[in-house]
Amino acid sequence: MQKKFVLKASAKLNLGLSVLGRRADGYHNLETVMQQISLADTLTFEPCTTGRGWTFFCSDPDLAGDENLVCRAASLLSSLSASVLPGVRISLYKNTPVQAGLGGGSSDAAAALLGLNRFWQLGLKKDVLLILAARLGSDVSFCLQGGTAVARGRGELIEQLHPLPFYWVVLALPPQVHISTGAAYKMLDPLDFGKLSLQELIKAIEIGDRKAIDDWLAGSYTNTFQEAIIKGSATLGRLNRSLQLLSLNPALSGSGPALFILTADYNMARSAAYAVRENGGKAFLSWTMTGNREWLYV
Ligand code: C5P
Repeated sequence: MQKKFVLKASAKLNLGLSVLGRRADGYHNLETVMQQISLADTLTFEPCTTGRGWTFFCSDPDLAGDENLVCRAASLLSSLSASVLPGVRISLYKNTPVQAGLGGGSSDAAAALLGLNRFWQLGLKKDVLLILAARLGSDVSFCLQGGTAVARGRGELIEQLHPLPFYWVVLALPPQVHISTGAAYKMLDPLDFGKLSLQELIKAIEIGDRKAIDDWLAGSYTNTFQEAIIKGSATLGRLNRSLQLLSLNPALSGSGPALFILTADYNMARSAAYAVRENGGKAFLSWTMTGNREWLYV
């Protein structure tokens, strides 16, 4: 019988995000540099004696329904297996803010794929898991691998990059602002598509040039979503402005509303987190990570 085990589902940042254009299937092509961070949800997998298949518990009752990506990952995997699968209880403990641009749900889905592949001893290899990940959501492929990567297509085509040098990450969230990815894409002006190039950032990461990375992130335009999303919420706009006035260079992650500040200096990170709270935001202190160890089991 399988033993209980625990997996972390790390949040992600989009260090840069350029929407390139709308596709015939309703999605958008993009290019984005993604970074795994230490802020994470926790999933436990344990034998469930009451039956076969899987049962699901979530610490946030609002996310406990069948439409949770963890449940969708479980039903996708179980539909692929002809044999009777041993019962598993999956418990999800949420830490990552939802609908914030931090990939919390996508990362839960990725951890569910990895965890159930192990628990049910399915033996699915990386290439198959990546195909399943893309079916669950555009960001799930990156979350499977973690580390630092460029994502293209609708987000499912991953090119791993040299690991980012270590940074402390200060996350700044305006209270009570949640933005669904689909709604955020609808807010974009097509005239902005393809205007942002990430080549300088990618080059700086590949050669490990911290100064060039810092300079790129300090630029005024790092994400196609930033104007529409920041204009669309007065609370987010105020938080962003006050952090800008303190020269903290906040950038928007994904389709927002999470802002982030990167610094190599711990004292600076603590002061930035304090400044976020002083200005009415919720602050999380996190750090950059170099990749998912769970691949060792695939
Ligand atoms: O892939 P995911 O399920 O996370 O996407 C949620 C929604 O965001 C999609 O239904 C689509 O409206 C939008 N989206 C998009 N282009 C992408 C990713 C997501 O238009 N590259």
